[in-house]
Amino acid sequence: MAETNLDIGMVGLGVMGRNLLLNMADHGYSVGGLDTDAAKVKSLLAEAAGKKAGATTDAKEFVAMLRKPRAIMMLVPAGKPVDAVIREMMPLLSPGDLLIDAGNSHFKDTDIRNKALAEKSFHFFGMGVSGGESGARHGPSMMPGGPKEAYERVRPILEAVSAKVNNDPCVAYLGPGSAGHYVKMVHNGIEYGLMQLISETYDVMKRVLGLSNEELHGVYDTWNRGELNGFLMEITAGIFRQKDDKSNKLLIDVILDVARQKGTGQWTSQDALELKVPAPTIDAAVAMRDLSGREEIRAAANKMFQSPQIVSRPEPVMIEKIRNAFHAAMIITYAQGMAQLQAASKAYSYGLNMELIARIWRGGCIIRASLLEDIRNAYRAKPDLPELILDPAIGKKVSERVADLRAFIKLAVENGIPAAGHMMCLTYFDAYRSGWMPFNLIQAQRDYFGAHTYERVDEKGTFHTHWS
Ligand code: 6PG
Repeated sequence: MAETNLDIGMVGLGVMGRNLLLNMADHGYSVGGLDTDAAKVKSLLAEAAGKKAGATTDAKEFVAMLRKPRAIMMLVPAGKPVDAVIREMMPLLSPGDLLIDAGNSHFKDTDIRNKALAEKSFHFFGMGVSGGESGARHGPSMMPGGPKEAYERVRPILEAVSAKVNNDPCVAYLGPGSAGHYVKMVHNGIEYGLMQLISETYDVMKRVLGLSNEELHGVYDTWNRGELNGFLMEITAGIFRQKDDKSNKLLIDVILDVARQKGTGQWTSQDALELKVPAPTIDAAVAMRDLSGREEIRAAANKMFQSPQIVSRPEPVMIEKIRNAFHAAMIITYAQGMAQLQAASKAYSYGLNMELIARIWRGGCIIRASLLEDIRNAYRAKPDLPELILDPAIGKKVSERVADLRAFIKLAVENGIPAAGHMMCLTYFDAYRSGWMPFNLIQAQRDYFGAHTYERVDEKGTFHTHWS
């Protein structure tokens, strides 16, 4: 007999949807699943045996299983599949029902869907879910945004299934409209930046310092036990020990040196440009993934141009310097993401609470790291802090390590190793720090060729000169 009165439904029983649903069932909630694939429905029912769960391939039957007003989560690929599910669900739902898009949808699509559904008296939530398969099953970080009153209905479920840090749930209502998906997008932009930075430290330690995979494992493992502790550091240490099933090599050495992307990092950069907020490390991370995919050009250039001889005689303390360089760059990468969130909060009226965002990123998500505790403290002390590096404690950490950031970049440059992520972090820092930038010249050039006018240091107003 079909179940009835279930607490929450899930459309899409792929890995993420199924795991999140099972996580809810583990916490005592009754759950219903819908998928067009009968095998997925069957396997969910088998896994949820003994719990109050129903699953079906029939949308009508699915909707009938849920308690009113219904709460339905979707975990389907971003884009057209989300609209297809909404189209399928709408005639079956009643006003007041809540639909939650828990995929990585573009925030502008979320705004459109939000508006269209609100006009029909449905509630719609865009919610970022981070933590991959295992996060979904055992505690993700979740970033919901949309109508606040509807959030209260699902709050207990979301808080129960989320990751916890010192008993604090890694989920909170973030703001109206597409606030949740925006915050998740920037989370992914920071994720791209951090992954790029870690890969650069790998490149230098492998090709310049000549570290073996086992030694690299040791370095990242040590880093993960200190201030650099975080999920990406932890998995990086593990990666260098993973054996390949198909050969007797370590897996890292048989993986192609090309990084693909689903697009969230690119969206972060695109919107940063739109908002005129500098996010150069995220831009560089996206560009370097794109460059890695241009394999034919890479092969031709590799044949055509000589690589510099490895010139550096690295001092024994170099690994320590690389650690510090990465640490400074990591802080500056989070700073760019946080600054983008603040700009978006103003531009899109999200009313974001920066401390809350740092709080829910401390556990469950891909960019969780001990550093987020410091970031949280910075915003707790000054909620409208315009730039993270201006926080005295965080600024001190950067300034104590910036000489090592320069040394790392110098080592990379001398040896022909691309280190765009670290370079962009240093450039971002130096540009803010230097007190003067050469943009008087750019003003002069614009006025020279286009009569665009310029401003002066000694008088207010705009001026034009007949340049000779
Ligand atoms: C997460 C991840 C997750 C996914 C991204 C990254 O927070 O759990 O960010 O959303 O891994 O889609 O994918 P790409 O690198 O392909 O953009």
